[in-house]
Amino acid sequence: MRSKHNPVMVAEVVRFLRPSSGTYCDMTVGGGGHAHALMSAANPDARLIAVDWDEAALVLAKERLAEFAPRVTFVRDDYRELPTILDSLGVDHVDGCLIDTGVSADQLADRSRGFSFDGTGLDMRMDTRREKTAADVVAELPPDDLAAVIWQFGQEGRAKRIAAEIARYREREAISDAATLAGLIRAAMPARTSGRRKRIRPETRTFMALRLHVNDELGSLSRGIRSAATALRPPGRLCILTYMSLEDRIAKRALRELAGSRLAPLPSLPLDEPSPPKEVTILTPRPLRPSATEVRQNPSSRSARLRAAERC
Ligand SMILES: C[S@@+](CC[C@H](N)C(=O)[O-])C[C@H]1O[C@@H](n2cnc3c(N)ncnc32)[C@H](O)[C@@H]1O
Repeated sequence: MRSKHNPVMVAEVVRFLRPSSGTYCDMTVGGGGHAHALMSAANPDARLIAVDWDEAALVLAKERLAEFAPRVTFVRDDYRELPTILDSLGVDHVDGCLIDTGVSADQLADRSRGFSFDGTGLDMRMDTRREKTAADVVAELPPDDLAAVIWQFGQEGRAKRIAAEIARYREREAISDAATLAGLIRAAMPARTSGRRKRIRPETRTFMALRLHVNDELGSLSRGIRSAATALRPPGRLCILTYMSLEDRIAKRALRELAGSRLAPLPSLPLDEPSPPKEVTILTPRPLRPSATEVRQNPSSRSARLRAAERC
């Protein structure tokens, strides 16, 4: 089977990572689209470490990258563990890293996994070895905690109403598919936002929140950026693609910290803290956005932001 995922801002990623000879790490290989472009642009002796924690993604990536097979090592793990991954492979450093966050079109297309609003299941784990599914979360969390997840990770203003609707329903029946959950979310929305006038679908923020919570994606991103910086051999580069403002803020903050900027001081601690050591140079003072042509051809690229940095 071939991946349905359309990789985003491929030309820009290749331009920043400028693959040549060396070892590169695609920390979120997914369907292998970016990895294929990187290996095609690199010298014939370049090597790739292809990481994903989703078994199904690795199957697709292996097929997509078959022509480079002898030079690609596939690893099923959380990319935040990059230093341990490299250690286990006997690799000291890498020359370029890519993090492409979020869910792939292949994961969305498998309705049994429950990432899409018409899902027949409600799992949402990208790594099926994780303990809790989205169905567990909506079944077990007290309404206040559920509302906090939906608000914190989804910035959903009607988080409390949605959590209450879920809590009412689950007293009668278990919520075991994404389509039922989507119906409950719509029922908690005022008529105005459940219609066509709102730009995003009413289910979007809650689904995103549950997915981020189930997979601890923000934790991986924050730790993973630091792991990548540690793993890079100067002047190796890191590219990060994010698709929502929470993620972009984490990427911006992590890169700033790695670039040696002092972060906003805590008002309660009037200390003259030393700046952290400078580990990277930021190559994108402002994140790059996809071109209008790319957005037209691949609408799911519209919210993408690309940040890049170089190890120093
Ligand atoms: C947007 S897709 C990547 C698509 C890929 N760049 C391509 O060209 O096909 C994101 C992928 O990252 C994986 N992923 C997300 N968080 C991860 C993590 N913490 N560790 C490993 N893989 C992760 C997901 O399973 C998914 O396959």
